[in-house]
Amino acid sequence: MNLKDISRNIIKKRSIDDLLATSKKSELKKTLNVFDLIVIGIGAVVGTGIFTIIGTAITGSAESAGAGPAIVISMILAAIACVFSALCYSEIAAMIPVAGSAYTYTYATMGEFMAWMVGWILMLEYAIGNITVASAWTGYFVQFLKGFKNVLPDFVVNFPIWLRHDYRTMATLCDANNWDIHDKIPYLFGHIPFTVNLPAIAIVLLLTILLVRGVKESTRVASIMVGVNMFMILSFIVIGSHYVKPENWTPFLPVVHPVQGVLMGTFLIFFAYIGFDAISTTAEETEKPQRDLPIAILGTLIICTILYVCVALVLTGIVPVDMIDIKAPIAHAMSYVGKDWFAGLISVGALCALTTVLLVYQLGTTRILYAISRDRFLPKSWRLIHKKYRTPHVMTWISGLIVIVCSLFMDLNISAALCNFGTFTSFVIICIAVLILRKTDPERPRPFKVPLCPWFPIAGIIICTVLIMYSLKTLKTSSSYFVIWLVVGLLIYAFYGYGQKRLEDKKRGVE
Ligand code: ALA
Repeated sequence: MNLKDISRNIIKKRSIDDLLATSKKSELKKTLNVFDLIVIGIGAVVGTGIFTIIGTAITGSAESAGAGPAIVISMILAAIACVFSALCYSEIAAMIPVAGSAYTYTYATMGEFMAWMVGWILMLEYAIGNITVASAWTGYFVQFLKGFKNVLPDFVVNFPIWLRHDYRTMATLCDANNWDIHDKIPYLFGHIPFTVNLPAIAIVLLLTILLVRGVKESTRVASIMVGVNMFMILSFIVIGSHYVKPENWTPFLPVVHPVQGVLMGTFLIFFAYIGFDAISTTAEETEKPQRDLPIAILGTLIICTILYVCVALVLTGIVPVDMIDIKAPIAHAMSYVGKDWFAGLISVGALCALTTVLLVYQLGTTRILYAISRDRFLPKSWRLIHKKYRTPHVMTWISGLIVIVCSLFMDLNISAALCNFGTFTSFVIICIAVLILRKTDPERPRPFKVPLCPWFPIAGIIICTVLIMYSLKTLKTSSSYFVIWLVVGLLIYAFYGYGQKRLEDKKRGVE
């Protein structure tokens, strides 16, 4: 094979008709309606961001300024940053309702190599993002257990610290508290330090088993949990509003670094919006994708923005900025006004929210891997469908194992930053894909169209690129991990994916 063949192959696109034909033959069950999709959307979006990260976004940290009560402005800015990409997702998802999200759309617009890289980057958003959420889950689980200190034995309530954290977090904790790490964790064979985030691993395992049993079953569980978590958030808004003191909103903008505070708040709180795109990964399992996908994507974004702004107003109205807790700000606000019982219930709501985020992200990882494998870049055995449950069970297990293995050596902050990089990149790609398809395939029916095209997609590209550049500059460790991730993806394609695809195509007589 010569260079000319190689370069022709790597820019080879899949035709949209071909994609649609493959999806028609899909063995995945078409069971999801618009309600299921909004449940998946809210389940994917409401989680760590609003229950945990909001605290730091308001108060700031040693490295960054906080937004104070102006977090409301940050939230609206972050929502605007998402809306352009959400509109683009809606247009393409309704036009090409095929599993695989941005990966599939890139294949149709930019060719094989770019599609592979986007698929690889999406793994950052979904699988690595799940490490962040699983770590936050452990935090709330530990809080939750504390509520049972008079009921459960002490070894359960205060289970060992080396069973709660990955090695990195443990080392940071030991540094911060001047502990000798050798006193805190056991060493296998006298040399190998042993510390794992056991609750995180257990919850990921449990959800993997649930997902193997079926998507409908999983969304049923998710809808109950989304219900609990929405109920808690709404109760917080209603009960909390009685304790709001408007003077806490003054000064509204941070006095020292107003612009920096609001921008940093936008950057941090962006994590709270990530996830609505997960809806488009289930396109093949949706009954009426053309109608339901855009409604669900935009609906989720609007519902979440309204909820977030109300939560932020109540939170900053109850607790003065310098007294906001950064670990569990919302539960703490209720303790602050003497409602400890309600603070405990908020932890339950947070656990439900984080569990649904985990579930949806794992569903997303599996469906993207499924689409990549169906395009012959990965072994055929990976996409076997379970005879009884009709789910891609091998892939579901692989997705679960990726999270478990990576969670052994990645901490919450690094995985969150990598997740952000992955998401920004996929947003940019989606906006570019809309522009390309408007040129190359203008006649294809578009049940939903991005208004003011090309300006809205261009605005999406600019905003997300600025966010990527900003975070690459600010977050040094995660930036280097991001580059390593890209290089590894490139090598796998060069030494495996490319050859595997040619081999499979040859077997099937495809040119
Ligand atoms: N938006 C999701 C969360 O906040 C990722 O957990």
